Amino acid sequence: MGQLRKAATVVINDVRHEIAGDEAFMMLADYLRYSCGLVGTKIVCAEGDCGACTVLRASVKGLGSEDYEVINSCIVMMAQLDGCSIITVEGLAPRGQFSPVQEAVARCHGSQCGYCTPGFVMAITACVQRSGPGLDAQSVKNYLTGNLCRCTGYAPLVEAALQVNREKQEILKTSLETRRVLKAVSKVSLVIDTEKGRFFAPATLAEAAAIKRRYPEARLISAATDLGVEMNKGKAVPNCFLSLHLIPELYRVRVTQGQVSCGARVTLAQLRRACETALPEWARNLNIFASPQIKNMATLVGNIANGSPIGDSLPFLLVSEASVIVLRGRSTREIELSALYRGYRQLSLKPDEIITTVKFKRLEARDHLRLYKVSQRRDLDIATVNAAFAFRFKATGASARVIAEARIAYGGVGPLAIRCQAAEAYLRGQSLSSEVCAKAQELIQCAIAPLSDLRGSAAYRRVLVAQLFERYCSELDGSSEFQPGAIRAASGEDSHGERCL
Ligand SMILES: Cc1cc2nc3c(=O)[nH]c(=O)nc-3n(C[C@H](O)[C@H](O)[C@H](O)COP(=O)(O)OP(=O)(O)OC[C@H]3O[C@@H](n4cnc5c(N)ncnc54)[C@H](O)[C@@H]3O)c2cc1C
Ligand code: FES
Ligand code: FES
Repeated sequence: MGQLRKAATVVINDVRHEIAGDEAFMMLADYLRYSCGLVGTKIVCAEGDCGACTVLRASVKGLGSEDYEVINSCIVMMAQLDGCSIITVEGLAPRGQFSPVQEAVARCHGSQCGYCTPGFVMAITACVQRSGPGLDAQSVKNYLTGNLCRCTGYAPLVEAALQVNREKQEILKTSLETRRVLKAVSKVSLVIDTEKGRFFAPATLAEAAAIKRRYPEARLISAATDLGVEMNKGKAVPNCFLSLHLIPELYRVRVTQGQVSCGARVTLAQLRRACETALPEWARNLNIFASPQIKNMATLVGNIANGSPIGDSLPFLLVSEASVIVLRGRSTREIELSALYRGYRQLSLKPDEIITTVKFKRLEARDHLRLYKVSQRRDLDIATVNAAFAFRFKATGASARVIAEARIAYGGVGPLAIRCQAAEAYLRGQSLSSEVCAKAQELIQCAIAPLSDLRGSAAYRRVLVAQLFERYCSELDGSSEFQPGAIRAASGEDSHGERCL
């Protein structure tokens, strides 16, 4: 490594902070409250679920990310914020006067307990800032899915967002000086070495590969949304981290006619913006992925690499024939997504390998892509079952209902998210009908091995699998006579596996 920095640079409410030593491993919310005395930011769940700790963050890296956007400060380590500018609720009213959003929340009676209020103020500020004067109630509700209020209720808060005096609301932007400072520091690699742990943030991919070779135990972090929760819960966490946040090429997302390629640091929010027109169904599905606060930090590569069989992106990526590019030393290899997983949360990566990019096919309108997520509540919940279907029909005349290509994938149905290849092979060349879909459904049921857990029994999951497929087929068919009569999974015990033998 050439030049090195030993402290992370973070700007908070326009004041530069150099974070070295153990403070680098503190969560931002703790740092604000206990090191800076900025107690307006509250900590309630400490798991990214309630939004009380919401602050605004702008980063000099990434697509359009110089604008401020909301994040959860309770699950992000200070060292990860190196190169970022943060605004807390105190920063909205530096001269002691309410900002127009604070004024509207007070006027509309949007606050009772006070714990959740600063988070709502920050979320409404970002919402107003990112939307034009045509903002409607539904858009506000979508924006507030990461903020929980258990007493006032949402109506006064939504009203407040709609009533903000936009003429007085200044657009928050990083100052030229802040940008100059942050751009300069983020060109230089960062190493923080304390008794508590080590934090590496190399400025180039080559350095990252060299560090991973030397310290294969270093835990890679993209946004560490999962890790932050684990740390707060006191679970055993590694003490050596390798963060990719300074590497410019990992922020690239490229959407071409046939393919999307996305670097390891591209957030889900950036990806959603990039794919909104090209892949509207995927963009729509991302609306129910976590909250705006999480999506502004979390990455697609992180969702793939955490290996969870209910990761929301997996069924989509499987039907889109995704693959990952992996770097080891100076060489790279490409691994198909279906070959990346060896078992429950086990990846076929070597300890010194780094995923740099994920690539996937850009499905076309004629592929009829549909994505589904079933969870106990609509927003900010983990899926019980998720699914992706994409059927392409032979184009013309009498062949219009003949299936040329069928792609079917599910998550939450076993240790891995899967493609249902036997059902896909059966469907190829068949004409869409109730009987054909019922037969395909039998093959799907044979391919899955759901478990019972807190989110649902195995039998319930089988019913969900069947119903999602039925729904897709009937939506495609469009006629009311379509009755696939899919298998009704036995209630209670999961006996289907035996029937498939
Ligand atoms: C409140 C909350 C809500 C959530 N909601 C959802 C949801 O609705 N749907 C969903 O699917 N998930 C959800 N998650 C889980 C999580 O946010 C996602 O999985 C997210 O995409 C992870 O991205 P990340 O960048 O934070 O990954 P990280 O936490 O940084 O990484 C995840 C794993 O991948 C490894 N890793 C990271 N980068 C690389 C790399 N480049 N190469 C190799 N390995 C790497 C890490 O070491 C780690 O083991 C939620 C989490 C929280 C806290
Ligand atoms: S304290 Fe609840 S999301 Fe951070
Ligand atoms: S005002 Fe705090 S929980 Fe509703």
